[in-house]
Amino acid sequence: MEKPIGVFDSGLGGISVLAQMIVTLPRENFLYYGDSKNAPYGEKTKEEVLDFSMHVSKYLIDRGSKALVVACNTATSAAIKDLRKSYDLPIIGMEPAVKPAVNMKNIKRVVVMATPFTLKEKKFHELVQNIDTSKKIVKLPCPGLVQLIEQEKGAGSKVQAYLIRLFNSLSLGKGDVLVLGCTHYVFLTNVIHEILNNRVPLVHGNVGTVLELKNQLERQDILTLCNCNKDSNKSKKDIHSSRIKLQHQQRIQLINSHQDLEFRRTGWDLLDCELRKLGSGNYISRE
Ligand code: DGL
Repeated sequence: MEKPIGVFDSGLGGISVLAQMIVTLPRENFLYYGDSKNAPYGEKTKEEVLDFSMHVSKYLIDRGSKALVVACNTATSAAIKDLRKSYDLPIIGMEPAVKPAVNMKNIKRVVVMATPFTLKEKKFHELVQNIDTSKKIVKLPCPGLVQLIEQEKGAGSKVQAYLIRLFNSLSLGKGDVLVLGCTHYVFLTNVIHEILNNRVPLVHGNVGTVLELKNQLERQDILTLCNCNKDSNKSKKDIHSSRIKLQHQQRIQLINSHQDLEFRRTGWDLLDCELRKLGSGNYISRE
């Protein structure tokens, strides 16, 4: 069996990146770890987030991952340097998509939604400092939003109320762009468009991250070109993980550190929903 690409997030947010990877790299297998037991990372100390990230990465690498995607802006800020020092395999991180946002036409203000941790870390300051722009960059920390998204499995009534309150003070409109600097927020795309009456474009880093992964796999000559006739899949189950097979014999496994099986079910639901949005033709059959 082809080695998988290991992917992790503090919880369910990285599923939005996983969906994009499945669509862009249809011959690859994926092993996804959601650390919902320890979520939210965005309100923990740097030492804690580093510790969680090292632990989860070791787990994925020990299980044969050929590359690692840190599908979490917060964990990337805390741990990407240490991870790259510790492991000799392609490691792709994420950062709020400020660069593409400042390059958009007719934009005067770039508003960056992210966890409090991401916005106060050195990595974010360096990112902003290195961008040569006259556009105003506004930080919009969203404490508590990740917990609500995990609780409501996306955008329920509490999330909507949170967003309405959050946007109230900013009078967002023409000339603004909103950066979704946390992978959980990508699930809120439709509801944010509704609240803002489609007046503000939204930007996130999922596509860019997946293209970077593809480049690195190509450069290292480990991109799977065909996985035909390699089907030795014996579906194993334990309380923390479950797997499915999609078209092209693609194997996807979801693992969640939380004992409550609901997190894993929600993971599959969100993945299904994102795959449909991306029009991939890959639908997940219910277990
Ligand atoms: N999805 C994570 C990110 O991109 C959320 C971090 C958290 O758990 O607070 O930052």
